[in-house]
Amino acid sequence: MVLAQQGVKDPPVVPRHVAIVMDGNGRWAQQRGLPRTDGHREGSRVARTTVEHAIRRGVDALTLFAFSSENWTRPVEEVDVLMQLFLEALDSQARDLIENGVRLSFIGDRSTLSAPLQEDMARVELATSGNTRLRLQVAVSYGGRWDIVQASRQLAAAVGRGELGLDDIDEQAVSDRLSLAGLPDPDLFIRTGGERRISNFLLWNLAYTELYFCDSAWPDFSADHFDRAIDYFAACERRFGATSHQVRGGP
Ligand code: FPP
Repeated sequence: MVLAQQGVKDPPVVPRHVAIVMDGNGRWAQQRGLPRTDGHREGSRVARTTVEHAIRRGVDALTLFAFSSENWTRPVEEVDVLMQLFLEALDSQARDLIENGVRLSFIGDRSTLSAPLQEDMARVELATSGNTRLRLQVAVSYGGRWDIVQASRQLAAAVGRGELGLDDIDEQAVSDRLSLAGLPDPDLFIRTGGERRISNFLLWNLAYTELYFCDSAWPDFSADHFDRAIDYFAACERRFGATSHQVRGGP
């Protein structure tokens, strides 16, 4: 009301960019007497329905944490199944992504991935590069600290070549070299599975993101859960360091 009276634009009700930690697959499977990898298979199906719901709700960008830098320490059989799932998902979903206007990109250290997976990633990225309806980023072999380190190396190399001076290194210069360069920071972060941690996801980009934690395991995450997270976001007052009075149009 105050916003409308003062002619201030209403804050967006739907987040432009949502980042999700899809946690709880292993526990979901174990509670059902199934191997952990069955939880990941179910999780892959839910990732797909979540992308569909993001499009339905008018979200512009969605970033999913599929495999962290630290997940390499898991039993080799579980890692193998996850890598196989990524390959299968790419092969089976590529056409759907193209038809639904999704532009898919991968973020993370690709040098650690198999050659076939790297090739499939590059192929689907190219095939979807002209799409504009939803930008989907899948983080594979990704860590927020890795991301900051790789951006720092790029900056150091540019200084070494004489292309940048020390004074040119500011927040924008770092942002421009991170994996999500060119995208707005996530407005809403969702983590399923009951834990309340960031777990080395998008450390830089989540500085002012609204955090939403959902106790359901990822395989149980539904459109209703997603809607509840969006409702939570819509009720948040985003101050970005300013006062409540200021964001409502006051001095
Ligand atoms: C975390 O649950 C989940 C993962 C490490 C893998 C996430 C992968 C998928 C959802 C499938 C593939 C996704 C795409 C985009 C094709 P956890 O295993 O840590 O569960 P726990 O905490 O119960 O052990």
